[in-house]
Amino acid sequence: MKYNFDEQIDRENTSCYKYDLREKVFGTENVIPMWVADMDFRTPRFITDALKERLEHEILGYTVPPLSLKKICADWQKRRYGWEADAEWFGFVPGIVTGLGFAVNTFTQPGDKVIVQPPVYPPFFKVPNGNGREVVYNPLKEIDGKYEMDFELLEKQLSDNAKLFILCHPHNPGGRVWSRETLERLAEMCASKGVLIISDEIHADMTYHAFRHIPFASISDTARDNSVTFMSPSKTFNVPGLINSYYVIPNPTLRRKFEAAMEHVDLHVNLFGFVATEAAYTQGEEWLGQMVDYLEGNARTVVDYCDKNIPGVKAMMPESSFLVWIDFSELGLSNDALRKLIIDKAGLGLNDGPTFGPGGEGHQRINVGCPRSLVIEAMQRIEKAVKSM
Ligand SMILES: Cc1ncc(COP(=O)(O)O)c(C=O)c1O
Repeated sequence: MKYNFDEQIDRENTSCYKYDLREKVFGTENVIPMWVADMDFRTPRFITDALKERLEHEILGYTVPPLSLKKICADWQKRRYGWEADAEWFGFVPGIVTGLGFAVNTFTQPGDKVIVQPPVYPPFFKVPNGNGREVVYNPLKEIDGKYEMDFELLEKQLSDNAKLFILCHPHNPGGRVWSRETLERLAEMCASKGVLIISDEIHADMTYHAFRHIPFASISDTARDNSVTFMSPSKTFNVPGLINSYYVIPNPTLRRKFEAAMEHVDLHVNLFGFVATEAAYTQGEEWLGQMVDYLEGNARTVVDYCDKNIPGVKAMMPESSFLVWIDFSELGLSNDALRKLIIDKAGLGLNDGPTFGPGGEGHQRINVGCPRSLVIEAMQRIEKAVKSM
């Protein structure tokens, strides 16, 4: 079956962040919103059909994760990534950011050092910070248009009494799918200093076909025993509003500790999230293949458009997902002036680079999980705004 990702669907007045928070976030409703990380594509029919079928039962009581679901998640890992993960390593959390908060509080103490690699998804530093931990920045370095890790600096930081490292894999906002060599080196370095790794792999399933996502915990016994992985079908299948993500913790001691912390606050996960996860992971592959091709085409449109038409503006070609990181720094604008240019002149609601931490200056992140016509319109607007300067 051929799926249609070109259709524009009106999302206004559905209480969605992306459209209905425009006034609050950008100070105006008059922007095309291409910011918060969900997609404007229809949630696929095999998921909405499964949700409707469950709804027909008409009793929506407290629900445990179906026993079969952990196995379904493990099978997905095996099928997609060749990772032989045991079903008992899996469990469910109401969102990865919530899971991250639990992991930070479970595995570190107030005042402990947590290493993150900016520019990066803001909760990576906000969550440890807000929970009284000390955030240590290990900034990524841009080499030949791609982010790389600074292992030299990391070596020093790991030796300086760090407790936790939070990995964004694939990386948001740079779209980098980390290589086996990078992951192996990271795993060895962190383990040798007793620093636990949290690997957030929420964007993994949208890796473009020329690249290969390797789950961090699958690369070696060392990585497996010293990691907490978070994943979710939420971004990939456009169901983040169902608040359903999961962890994979192979090390039984770490897993018991994490699960005990969740039990102490009696954390539940949304019943419809379970239904959606099962439908996505048992029926989703054909749709996913086409969707990823479409996303890659959208990202390529942004990169090529900048190269051909907008001098001084460069976009990083992602290797996964629907987020494209655009570098405006050659224009020499202050962060404030760039933000104004994008909102007031281009009429676009993008994510402001500095919110991703050090290295975000002079950048904006655009979400291309939307019809291509909108991506083209956004690029034309950016071109016009830049050329009017
Ligand atoms: C790297 C990363 N992790 C986690 C999330 C959010 O996950 P959740 O909705 O499960 O909390 C996002 C959303 O943009 C993300 O980019």
